[in-house]
Amino acid sequence: VPVTALLRRPADIIGSADHAGHPNIPLPRDLYRPRRTNSRGLEFGERAALDALVAAVAAEPLPAAARGVDATPEEANAAISAARVGFENWSRTPAGTRASALERAADLLEQRAAHFMALLQREGGKTLDDAQSEVREAVDFCRYYAAEGRGQFGDSKAMPGPTGESNVLRLRGRGVFAAISPWNFPLAIFSGQIAAALMAGNAVVAKPAEQTPLIAAEAVSLLHEAGVPSSALHLVQGDGRIGAALVAHADIAGVVFTGSTEVARTINRALAAKDGPIVPLIAETGGINAMIVDATALPEQVADDVVTSAFRSAGQRCSALRLLFLQDDVADRMIEMIAGAAHELRIGDPGDPATHIGPVIDVEAKQRLDAHIARMKTEARTHFAGIAPPGNYVAPHIFELSDADQLTEEIFGPVLHVVRYRADRLDQILQSIERSGFGLTLGIHSRIDDMVEAVIDRLSVGNIYVNRNMIGAVVGVQPFGGHGLSGTGPKAGGPHYLARFATEQTVTINT
Ligand code: NAD
Ligand code: ALA
Repeated sequence: VPVTALLRRPADIIGSADHAGHPNIPLPRDLYRPRRTNSRGLEFGERAALDALVAAVAAEPLPAAARGVDATPEEANAAISAARVGFENWSRTPAGTRASALERAADLLEQRAAHFMALLQREGGKTLDDAQSEVREAVDFCRYYAAEGRGQFGDSKAMPGPTGESNVLRLRGRGVFAAISPWNFPLAIFSGQIAAALMAGNAVVAKPAEQTPLIAAEAVSLLHEAGVPSSALHLVQGDGRIGAALVAHADIAGVVFTGSTEVARTINRALAAKDGPIVPLIAETGGINAMIVDATALPEQVADDVVTSAFRSAGQRCSALRLLFLQDDVADRMIEMIAGAAHELRIGDPGDPATHIGPVIDVEAKQRLDAHIARMKTEARTHFAGIAPPGNYVAPHIFELSDADQLTEEIFGPVLHVVRYRADRLDQILQSIERSGFGLTLGIHSRIDDMVEAVIDRLSVGNIYVNRNMIGAVVGVQPFGGHGLSGTGPKAGGPHYLARFATEQTVTINT
């Protein structure tokens, strides 16, 4: 689908509204401090490479930001019917050929990294760091699932045959998968879901978030160019109503969903209410993610890791830190250091490489966050209240709660909630984490191995990070996904993920 075909009104700006149409921004040399990025090992510390990247991103010709044209229910139905036909061929395409298409997509994404980074900035409000990490993650998903899929979907697995029969087990695609994704990783999660479903031999009808249609359109064009047949991969744009129409359709054989817990529940109920085959749901949702810091932790490292975990990406990561438990002996000093570090963060234009925090996704998100901050100012103790520039920005805030149970929902932005605990009451905070029902990420900062092991053993949380920050899981290295209210448990970027998209068939032949 040509991107321009999706433009409705060129001036109808979405996402990082204040940055649409920004001109080439000169590198603010006096403000920029070289820094290395995360554990992905990106070469951000290299000044020349950064200069070139910033210039390339800024020079990218982009369509003016615009809303996508929503599909009608009839168009969504037509996409599913066409995908059913596409499934017949794609599921019979050898796994190696499917994998090669994903690898070509990864190559193309790398070649066009600057273009996708520019889109991520313009449409998703991503900073340079975040945009680069996201392109990298999308590339990683394509290559990782291709590599895993070649093995898992290549040959049938011979099973032991003590009876003298031949027994083989093989994985096969299920049919047409609906892939429904959020705006906060509009390239990586969007293409990761699609890559996994396709690698497993399914056809896909993808519905991106309504906030980020252009990135989705370009990603689908790229996958088609890479060799995924257009009959096997379809794009339908629209809001939750189109998502709901896909879920309700009789010919959907599986749903992969990443987004809020509330919508995951709605989808789960809709699937349960359907007649016909039982349709599996892979759901990856949010969390009230906690970090526990005891008196043995290194204060400077804690401050750095807390600020990264809570405020990077404007807190718009499902993995982000929401609830920080500080041992009371060190709490005052830690809060002072964290607030000091938060004060240094630059909020503003995501096209400016000196920016740490870009805009939140839209006006509604800002209004929700502003309302929460206003409530916290009356119900909690304010330790830090940053100042945001005009526009869709929300500055970092740090509030101290008297009780962790005061936080009952995921606050999807740069708002950190702190609770003090006494060393002999650790059990109480573990109970409160369990009571929340979420289990996505957890941070622990402690040098007491027994304490760390006890917490890891006790809590059912998908990704636990010890003595480091708690965001930015690396594909193929830190498989990512949560339990309970945080999801149905599959790990994106992990070795067991592809099998969730497949059926298993055992063939026994009496030879
Ligand atoms: P959301 O749940 O509002 O929307 C996600 C997608 O679902 C969108 O495409 C939306 O249009 C669609 N949708 C909405 N209602 C629907 C319905 N009734 N039926 C079918 N589809 C429907 O989430 P969001 O605001 O886009 O994203 C933020 C949320 O995503 C946060 O809760 C965050 O924690 C979560 N998230 C989780 C992960 C993870 O891997 N666990 C990763 C990123 C984001
Ligand atoms: N996978 C993303 C992270 O770990 C959401 O931050």
